[in-house]
Amino acid sequence: MDITKEVNPHFEDFLFDWNQKFQFLMGGYGSSKSYHVALKIILKLLSEKRKALVIREVYDTHKDSTFSLFTEIIEDLGLLDDSGRKKIAKGKVRPKESPYELKFSSGSRIIFKGMDKPAQLKSINNVSLIWLEECSEVKYEGFKELIGRLRHPTLKLHMILSTNPIGEENWTYMHFFKDEKNERIVLDDNELYEKGTVVFGDTYYHHSTADDNLFLPESYIEQLDELKEYDPDLHRVARLGRKEEIASQSLIDNLRNQVAIMSDWAKNMKTLAAKGVDDGLIAELQTMGPKALAETKALISMSDVQLNEFQGL
Ligand SMILES: Nc1ncnc2c1ncn2[C@@H]1O[C@H](COP(=O)(O)OP(=O)(O)O)[C@@H](O)[C@H]1O
Ligand SMILES: [Mg+2]
Repeated sequence: MDITKEVNPHFEDFLFDWNQKFQFLMGGYGSSKSYHVALKIILKLLSEKRKALVIREVYDTHKDSTFSLFTEIIEDLGLLDDSGRKKIAKGKVRPKESPYELKFSSGSRIIFKGMDKPAQLKSINNVSLIWLEECSEVKYEGFKELIGRLRHPTLKLHMILSTNPIGEENWTYMHFFKDEKNERIVLDDNELYEKGTVVFGDTYYHHSTADDNLFLPESYIEQLDELKEYDPDLHRVARLGRKEEIASQSLIDNLRNQVAIMSDWAKNMKTLAAKGVDDGLIAELQTMGPKALAETKALISMSDVQLNEFQGL
């Protein structure tokens, strides 16, 4: 069967590359991650009889995202079975709701589950391909459980994970890039931004931004560009597709600085009192706080004679 479909060049190799067990896609808003993962899975299931599992944190969100995306692509490829017959027409795919599922005439199936309905996960078997959409929203325990569910006697097993950029504290960052606490370094995220794709061990990494999606309207990119002015942190994530700058870390650094300043300040006041600076002046400096650091330092460095002269003024 011949299928013709225009795809984004940055995703072309990804579509047909099944060398690694894990495929991790991180990128900015609208970079076409979801679209190409769905297309990749469809192409795979057309060429091999497989059962694929699509996971989101919340089951109900499949309806307007993954399930409708798959259905849209299948329709686009001219593969939608609308014969109404009991048997699915040869080479076609039939969507089914409650529960969401796509059935291929070959026997391949795509099923959809949510981590918020753990009972659903218990019953799955023979799944050889899992897509974890918006994987940063799923918990690490869930990810590990899913790896355990990936099981098939003969077929090669694959897990695809897609996400918008995450912060360093998210498990996806700790697992696929760097876990500072446990001193485990897998890949420097900057290397990924630079290269676009990286293969490391059993993982294929893919990075993308809206620039990689030729199907986006110009206005969408303009909107993302505007973020630079009023929300630079979100601009970094949404437009550049780069990991969240850890606001919490800079807060801690700030606070640490302040604490250091305050303790220096308290020491300075003690030194001044020991030098015999009068209480009134010290009280005045106290109310000014560390703003008066320069004056305080000048006072501390004065000789006793200078200090007496100064206080006599
Ligand atoms: N190959 C394609 N053919 C047609 N439309 C595409 C294609 N790739 C991307 N798009 C369009 O781009 C939009 C954004 O892509 P999407 O996969 O949702 O991005 P992301 O998941 O990275 O946020 C999709 O809704 C779709 O309309
Ligand atoms: Mg998406």
